[in-house]
Amino acid sequence: MKETKYIWMDGKLVPWKDAKVHVLCHSLHYGLGVFEGIRFYETDKGPAVFRLKDHIKRLFDGAKKTFMEVPFSEEEISQAVIETIAKNEIKEGYVRPIFFYGYGKMGLDPHGAPVNISIAVWPWDPFLGEDAIKVKTSSFIRLHPKSTRAECKISGHYVNSIFASCEAKAEGYREALLLDYNDNIAEGPGENIFIVRGGKLLTPKLGNILEGITRKSIIEIAKDEGIEVEETTLKQEDIYGAEESFFTGTAAEVSPIASLDKKPIGKEVPGPITKKLKETFLDIVHDRNKKYEKWLTYVNNS
Ligand SMILES: Cc1ncc(COP(=O)(O)O)c(C=O)c1O
Repeated sequence: MKETKYIWMDGKLVPWKDAKVHVLCHSLHYGLGVFEGIRFYETDKGPAVFRLKDHIKRLFDGAKKTFMEVPFSEEEISQAVIETIAKNEIKEGYVRPIFFYGYGKMGLDPHGAPVNISIAVWPWDPFLGEDAIKVKTSSFIRLHPKSTRAECKISGHYVNSIFASCEAKAEGYREALLLDYNDNIAEGPGENIFIVRGGKLLTPKLGNILEGITRKSIIEIAKDEGIEVEETTLKQEDIYGAEESFFTGTAAEVSPIASLDKKPIGKEVPGPITKKLKETFLDIVHDRNKKYEKWLTYVNNS
């Protein structure tokens, strides 16, 4: 990974190489941490963070739902994100804030261990590349909603995502797609999914998936473009028969899907609706579309 200069830890910036934790850090052993993935983009007014408020809100909602007492406010963490970007002097990249239980207590009950916070930023290209990708339905299903808080970005959840991704890669695919416990389409390991059928945009409804901020943005953009959108139940067959399909996510942005389980989707290249939505999304994040400027927080003015 590309290193930057500073990482924010528990209230102050420390040099990248000094941002360390103890091996008996509680979250390292038991996986209870909540985190975010946020992007900031180069604009004419300097770096701008995309939907910072929504990401910070999801982070704090996750902390609340996991009974984590965070020693900073939403406003303070938002400011810390801005400060970390500004001090690292990079124009565009990814932000990773994480709340985790640190050193001082072992055993499953985390209470008594300190809640530590770090915020790192680094340059990171779109995670799935630019081309339409080959996807495999995973043999691993998404976590059951009654087993956990599926809607939170909890560190331990990502073991399920890692298994699915590794399996797909071992079989020559670029990414996995996970079903839920009812064999409905859920999401990618770190992405939401959309399909286009009959010119209409369809995506799995909420309940057993992460409420992606890119997903929410794409739904709003599509509706504004006059595209009909439906949040519904989807099966594998719906994707096999789709005209277009794409993943959305902060790391992946808008990533076209060429095939699922070797069954081609459309012409296996980005279709017109995918291209249009991706183009509009990239215009928005780079502040080339003033209608959505409300989604940007400028680093230099904050
Ligand atoms: C499991 C999962 N689904 C979907 C997403 C996409 O969410 P967002 O668009 O907020 O990054 C992510 C990424 O955070 C994720 O980890």
